[in-house]
Amino acid sequence: MTLSFSQEPKARADTAASLGQRTATGSPMIQVAQLDKIFEGGFHALKNVSLEIQRGEIFALLGPNGAGKTTLISVICGLVRASSGSVRVDGHDNVSDYRQARAMIGLVPQELTNEAFTTVWDTVSFSRGLFGKPKNPAHIENVLRALTLWEKRDNRLLQLSGGMKRRVLIAKALAHEPKVLFLDEPTAGVDVELRREMWEVVRQLRDQGVTIILTTHYIEEAEEMADRIGVILGGELVLVEEKAALMRQLGRKELTLHLDQALDDVPAALAGHDLALMEDGHALVYTYDVTQQEEGTGIAGLLADLEATGIRVKDLHTRQSSLEEIFVSLVRERA
Ligand SMILES: Nc1ncnc2c1ncn2[C@@H]1O[C@H](COP(=O)(O)OP(=O)(O)O)[C@@H](O)[C@H]1O
Ligand SMILES: [Mg+2]
Repeated sequence: MTLSFSQEPKARADTAASLGQRTATGSPMIQVAQLDKIFEGGFHALKNVSLEIQRGEIFALLGPNGAGKTTLISVICGLVRASSGSVRVDGHDNVSDYRQARAMIGLVPQELTNEAFTTVWDTVSFSRGLFGKPKNPAHIENVLRALTLWEKRDNRLLQLSGGMKRRVLIAKALAHEPKVLFLDEPTAGVDVELRREMWEVVRQLRDQGVTIILTTHYIEEAEEMADRIGVILGGELVLVEEKAALMRQLGRKELTLHLDQALDDVPAALAGHDLALMEDGHALVYTYDVTQQEEGTGIAGLLADLEATGIRVKDLHTRQSSLEEIFVSLVRERA
């Protein structure tokens, strides 16, 4: 599937510009400052969230169910009013300058909420009209073709498969040529093949200059898609990191040495190695960086020093930390 808003390659740059190609200004596309949301009834759903999203990036907001992902994007999109704090979209305050801010945004909601009896063409065209944009059948056609919905344009929504309905939601969100697209759990409950296709669509949109913010509770989705990852837990943004930096952390490995006899402390002779005593002194855990090709892992030196101390190793195994473990340990820390 190819996603191009223009049939002619030459015209592509113009289209990308109209879709919000990274502009010369360099200012963030989204600026969220000290957001709090306390729902009626007192539930504190967002706690002092500050975040900047750069133009043209894919940002993944990762968090378990109930963490506050939908609330955060609903506040940014102006659908839910913050209790305090502010949001700017392309420089427009999303309360005092609501219309301009909202016009920048396309939102693909978490829930499938389509009018069953409308046709694909009508529902997508209508979405554009909601933003007061003049009719532009050529743009609607490009969007539908890009999402492989063109053949289905006269179908009623109730005739479509779940995957097709999701595409329609994306098409609706793109109808008014937004500069930034929010996708709230775009692939929750979709099969693997469709998930791959959705990822491809998102990448192509980014290549067209659209800033993408997606929420997900699938770690591999964040890992696969994002330029940066924000982790939200219990309404707090606990981590915002370049994916590449997280990947370097993924490069850390652990070697666990199960000992014949328990130790009280890490022996002084081994102090030069990054060791921790675990399992009531029955295991030594050595952490090392697999990305340090030149200096080596240090395992050979460690084993030689161990031998010299006379400590007997019964068994050993290695494991690699993953984003999942980082995530799980963050969740546990906060629990
Ligand atoms: N309108 C509301 N009133 C009260 N609590 C709400 C409301 N909407 C969401 N919540 C609560 O806020 C928390 C975050 O919800 P949500 O943002 O939907 O989480 P996520 O999208 O990460 O799964 C949840 O505990 C949810 O029950
Ligand atoms: Mg949600």
